[in-house]
Amino acid sequence: MTKKASHPLKENIRNLKCCFHGGLIKENSEKYNIPEQDILDFSANLNPFGTPFDHPEYGLDYMQLAADALKESVNYPDNRYLEFRNAAASFLNKPNITFENIIPGNGSTEIIRLFCQCVLDEGDKVIIPYPTFGEYEIQCRLQNAEIIYVPTKSIYDLTEEELSAAKIIFICNPNNPTAVLRKREDLLQLAKKCARAKTVLFMDEAFIELSDPEESLCDIAAENDYVFVMRSLTKCFALPGVRLGFGVASKNIADALNRARLSWNLSPLQEKMGAAFLSMPGGVNSDYLQKSREMILGEANYLKDELSKVWGFEPGVATTNYLLIDISKRTLDSSAMAARFAGHGILIRDCISFKGLETDYIRIAVRTRDENVRFVQTVSKVFDEWAKEFAEYELQNTLANHKRGGRQNERETCGYYPCHFEGQDCTFCYCPFYPCGDERTGGTYVYSTKRNGKIWSCTDCYIPHISSVVDKMLDGLMEDGETEDLLKKEWQEIIVPILEERDDNTILAYCRKIKADKK
Ligand SMILES: Cc1ncc(COP(=O)(O)O)c(C=O)c1O
Repeated sequence: MTKKASHPLKENIRNLKCCFHGGLIKENSEKYNIPEQDILDFSANLNPFGTPFDHPEYGLDYMQLAADALKESVNYPDNRYLEFRNAAASFLNKPNITFENIIPGNGSTEIIRLFCQCVLDEGDKVIIPYPTFGEYEIQCRLQNAEIIYVPTKSIYDLTEEELSAAKIIFICNPNNPTAVLRKREDLLQLAKKCARAKTVLFMDEAFIELSDPEESLCDIAAENDYVFVMRSLTKCFALPGVRLGFGVASKNIADALNRARLSWNLSPLQEKMGAAFLSMPGGVNSDYLQKSREMILGEANYLKDELSKVWGFEPGVATTNYLLIDISKRTLDSSAMAARFAGHGILIRDCISFKGLETDYIRIAVRTRDENVRFVQTVSKVFDEWAKEFAEYELQNTLANHKRGGRQNERETCGYYPCHFEGQDCTFCYCPFYPCGDERTGGTYVYSTKRNGKIWSCTDCYIPHISSVVDKMLDGLMEDGETEDLLKKEWQEIIVPILEERDDNTILAYCRKIKADKK
């Protein structure tokens, strides 16, 4: 008898969470009131060299392809998709791969779903290393499979017994979002273990053409029922809206998946466009893809070098068209940072949805030099803005405390002590006048290799750390008025007279003496 629950939907579907992706241009345009064309999207990772249509030298004519496709669109597509499958096989350029090994997909995401549908029964286990692309989890949950998470670093340590508990292990190469590119030799060892354990090694090679196609396992997938390879055309040809991908499998497996897939999963335009891209002379080593890889490597290293100079930005490996950045040292978390960049018209990928990364990481795409320069400049803008707000916030706390008769950030209680030098009488986090730019305070401009330019350093200035000065400043700041105006007034009325005193009894001399005594 058919079992009926109290709800028409299956339990696992009712509880399904949507997979989070980048590329939310429309949504952010509405949210931040910035025209879509002014938004720079660093949150989706596409080939920065542009589409093949952007390069007339490759002879692809979109209008011609569209016109041919329109003629065919009056009939149902030939669902054997031989033109596309033959082109995909010759693109991979391996003697053992023919169209019979290829499964066409409406984007590679469809291939992940199809594979899970065809392999997983309810309650089956799968291994998903983390952090990685979110679609494996969603597609497995749709089949009501049980997920075993393992850290990506430990996949080669999995024993045959551990592997055999699962029906599939998903490996993304290069991995999204870490950009770690695994070596073919190591993967071959894992593939052998998987075959013995009767666990399918599912290789997601969506970015491999933009990294190093030599590391692909597509030729192994063609011979081995326990290796499956998935490729995407949307990344390497920079047309995610067209939705194209394919799977590579042994003839047996490919035949079964081709029978199970949606009958007409590609439109004539998709098939024609895909076949045209995949048929560019040289396949994975076409002039277009080689130039793409050269550009990506150069730009990824440019971004890595520039961003490594920013305090609290630790970019990961530069192997492909995106970089993962560890921002855990900064007080601004990934979601707040993404929102601030979006306010400047730049979308970055907040990595909060990637298991294991929490709010400590962001991912950025590698784009053209001009766009990458704009990104680096925006980093400075975002942090200057944030530092100013943080200083204002700290100042308000200090004032609130002063009102209650206490002192904020006493040397003994401040979590940031000593931010400048031992022994200071702390009151403010960040001087409220920073950067004053007046060398009479003892401050000076220094060259920063991180910022690649001059920055104001106030390490020799003791003025806002002297109790009598601080008390006057706090009293002044308590008066009615805008903080900015009050600060200007205080500078004139409290600080300038100190700076203008020149004899040895001045506070400045006193400050220097304190500092000298401390050394
Ligand atoms: C690692 C990885 N695999 C597969 C996909 C799916 O791409 P598509 O369905 O556009 O081919 C993506 C998209 O972001 C991805 O990052």
